[in-house]
Amino acid sequence: MMHGVKKVGVAGAGQMGGGIALVAASSGLETVVFDAHGPAIEKCRALHDKLLARNVEKGRMNQADADGAKGRVKFVESPEGLKGSDIIIEAIVEDAQIKKELFPKLAAQLSGNGILASNTSSISITDLATSVPEHAARFIGMHFFNPVPVMKLVEVINGLATSTETTERVLALSEAMGKTAHAANDRPGFVSNRVLMPMINEAFYAWMEGVAEPEDIDEIMKLGCAFPMGPLRLADFIGLDTCVKIMDVLAEGLNNPRYRACPLLKQLVTAGRLGDKTGRGVYEYGK
Ligand SMILES: NC(=O)c1ccc[n+]([C@@H]2O[C@H](COP(=O)([O-])OP(=O)(O)OC[C@H]3O[C@@H](n4cnc5c(N)ncnc54)[C@H](O)[C@@H]3O)[C@@H](O)[C@H]2O)c1
Repeated sequence: MMHGVKKVGVAGAGQMGGGIALVAASSGLETVVFDAHGPAIEKCRALHDKLLARNVEKGRMNQADADGAKGRVKFVESPEGLKGSDIIIEAIVEDAQIKKELFPKLAAQLSGNGILASNTSSISITDLATSVPEHAARFIGMHFFNPVPVMKLVEVINGLATSTETTERVLALSEAMGKTAHAANDRPGFVSNRVLMPMINEAFYAWMEGVAEPEDIDEIMKLGCAFPMGPLRLADFIGLDTCVKIMDVLAEGLNNPRYRACPLLKQLVTAGRLGDKTGRGVYEYGK
């Protein structure tokens, strides 16, 4: 099936939205990015310039294509600026209430058969879709991974009411953006976090129970399971606070105590050791 998308709207110019917009524009799609905060837009614009210049420098893109991509991205400071988008991909703050307040404003900007997608990593797509009931069939999860220009996967999440046509269009669009897309259903953690996060949590239990030291746990998983990075190092990269939040979503959503966050993981968060972003998590990092 064809995706039928000419114009992509992105809501949120942060780490994820900025990356999604750059990938869309680089694949030839007209792209408009909305963020409510001016400084976020300036930061995103500067990041695009830097990434495009690096792509040219490394021979991954020629100057004309980089200029073309830059020329296809427009930034706006109100949702109305997204008017006429064939899809709007939401990547604002991870807060169900704030997202739900924004969706009706985004829905009003869509072209006739337009799709609303959320990049949420943990909120139920079915729940978010209740904010725009008349759009529920054209509401879907489009879960990109960080850093978006590098990571190949889009996890496409079907809400309870998402139509097959919407899923097929979003799978086709993801491929047209140079990604590999796989569909999953709307259950807590989808597939990626449902499988990854309990594994990371278990690595904290192994450390807490003295099975091995962090370096040994990480090296064993790297060399023994061909992981590019050990689970504890990955937790530092994701942010230990984010790991706890995702475990909370799994524990509550799946109603099963086996998903409770490891006490040691929670203790590090209490101590302010959140990982790379605070300079210390499981490991210590230079300033
Ligand atoms: N960072 C990751 O690794 C990752 C991976 C996958 C999915 N996600 C999801 O992507 C989304 C965005 O995450 P991020 O890391 O890019 O966050 P971020 O903080 O870098 O960016 C969020 C942006 O949204 C803007 N914003 C906030 N509220 C807004 C509103 N009401 N209207 C318009 N703009 C608003 C902010 O100004 C900011 O620029 C979240 O839902 C997150 O769960 C994040």
